[in-house]
Amino acid sequence: MDLSTELKGRDFISLHDFTRAEISLIIDTAMGLKKELKSGILHPYLAGKTLGMIFQKSSTRTRVAFEVGMYQLGGHALFLSPRDIQLGRGESIKDTALVLSRMLEGIMIRTFSHDEVLELAKWADIPIINGLTDLLHPTQVIGDMQTITEYKGGVEGIKLAFVGDGNNVAHSLLFGGAKMGMHVSIACPPGYEPDAGVLRLAEEDARQSGARLSVVHDPLVAVEGADVVYTDVWASMGQEGEAAEKEQHFMQYQVNKRLMSVAHKDAIVLHCLPAKRGKEITDEVLDGPQSAVFDEAENRLHAHKAIMALVM
Ligand code: CP
Ligand code: NVA
Repeated sequence: MDLSTELKGRDFISLHDFTRAEISLIIDTAMGLKKELKSGILHPYLAGKTLGMIFQKSSTRTRVAFEVGMYQLGGHALFLSPRDIQLGRGESIKDTALVLSRMLEGIMIRTFSHDEVLELAKWADIPIINGLTDLLHPTQVIGDMQTITEYKGGVEGIKLAFVGDGNNVAHSLLFGGAKMGMHVSIACPPGYEPDAGVLRLAEEDARQSGARLSVVHDPLVAVEGADVVYTDVWASMGQEGEAAEKEQHFMQYQVNKRLMSVAHKDAIVLHCLPAKRGKEITDEVLDGPQSAVFDEAENRLHAHKAIMALVM
């Protein structure tokens, strides 16, 4: 596979920072790398390079995908827990960025405040990859759009309904959909709408791409005729204290067989995982014939490899 050098050196922090052509390039690269891997073709595009991975929050998929992905690309990944590195004892992000830039070729960070990622990117002179913040989860949505492309032949004109909290995943779906011409309808309880600033920026992009974006309170309205039904936990990492209260508000927002009956008959179901089975999604749907959730999880590997191979 001929790897494009167009994105070399770029940070991967928000899908809003990328053009439609650039996002398509990342998805196409992910699909190409997946094909090569399945055919046993080695692709050490990052031989000799090292990725540092700072995790201030837990992770199964993101960590394993970046670590295994880096190995498959011929490089090395370092897991940097805040318990062990000096950042956790108060060393500044600026100094951390300046030092790590002398030793690594890229940094992936998962943290709470989105500003921390921006601060890291401001001082680092190596690519910074956003592995999830309270605001955004862009690497997830590359894997999601890859999955939708595999099932539906593309993302343009696809109708995606996100049912649940207007959270980081919802925000990245809005940004990704808006760039790519995918219609995104968010159904959430009053008071749990997506961030107004994210929505405003996404709407600007949507005017260019023809994507229709909407926020509604009735899940049936969002899911009616949808090609993709997406959900996520009601309480994200860092909101554990609000989980019980949130549950009261989200009971009507469960993705179950009844809700799926109004979606397009060939609709697929996505969930970024981890799931709270029996809460935002039933076992019946998660394990059912319309679920593409475990393909979606696998695609994080290919998507992350594409991001690393293109920017590092
Ligand atoms: N979807 C996702 O990012 O999963 P992890 O939290 O396990 O990385
Ligand atoms: N919204 C979830 C996504 C987890 C991958 C969270 O932030 O916890």
